[in-house]
Amino acid sequence: MFVAIEGIDGVGKSTVISMLRRRLEDSGYKVHVTAEPSQSPIGRLIRDWLLKPGSNVAHPSIYALLFVADRVQHYYGEVKPMLDIGYVVITERYMESTLAYQGAMSLPQEWLMELHKFVPMPDLTIILDAPVDTVINRLSSRRVLEVFEVDREFLVRVREILLRRASMYNYPVVNADRDLELVVGDVYGLIINALRRVA
Ligand code: TYD
Repeated sequence: MFVAIEGIDGVGKSTVISMLRRRLEDSGYKVHVTAEPSQSPIGRLIRDWLLKPGSNVAHPSIYALLFVADRVQHYYGEVKPMLDIGYVVITERYMESTLAYQGAMSLPQEWLMELHKFVPMPDLTIILDAPVDTVINRLSSRRVLEVFEVDREFLVRVREILLRRASMYNYPVVNADRDLELVVGDVYGLIINALRRVA
């Protein structure tokens, strides 16, 4: 089973996923955890260029094209091979990140969907959600902010698109503005239920 955990910057995706991995492994599942931007050369280009403050990228479409190119490589080069040998694959970010972040850069949703023609949707997409002001406070106490993290209005638009698509496609939305154990418990429950359905 292929699971994507989505949400705005600072909502706690990586912490939740690492705790989740332990719980799923304790329950006897083989788990592969991964993230986008991925470790591929395209992922590296994204980090070293697109996400660097002051990077001076010529057009928003380049973000979409590179994030999706990284995704196609990530899926066929890493996710699918692990699914094929029986792992539960959990990715931090997948297509909803492009629909929401590049959608918030005013790129048309239909074109962004079209770019995903050659990769499947995950079996389960879970949105971690918290108010933008909560995540900005968390992030600025942690470290220097990346390009998208400094722009409150931008993150507000990203969150709106994530929530709108969640209600369109029935993605579960987990309130991440709570005690970490509760958040992990809810996400774990959603994954276990989905695993039992496919078993
Ligand atoms: P992030 O999850 O913060 O990666 P890291 O923890 O390695 O810094 O992702 C980096 C940024 O890229 C984040 O602000 C969201 C953005 N992003 C997009 O705009 N589109 C995408 O398709 C993806 C995967 C990420």
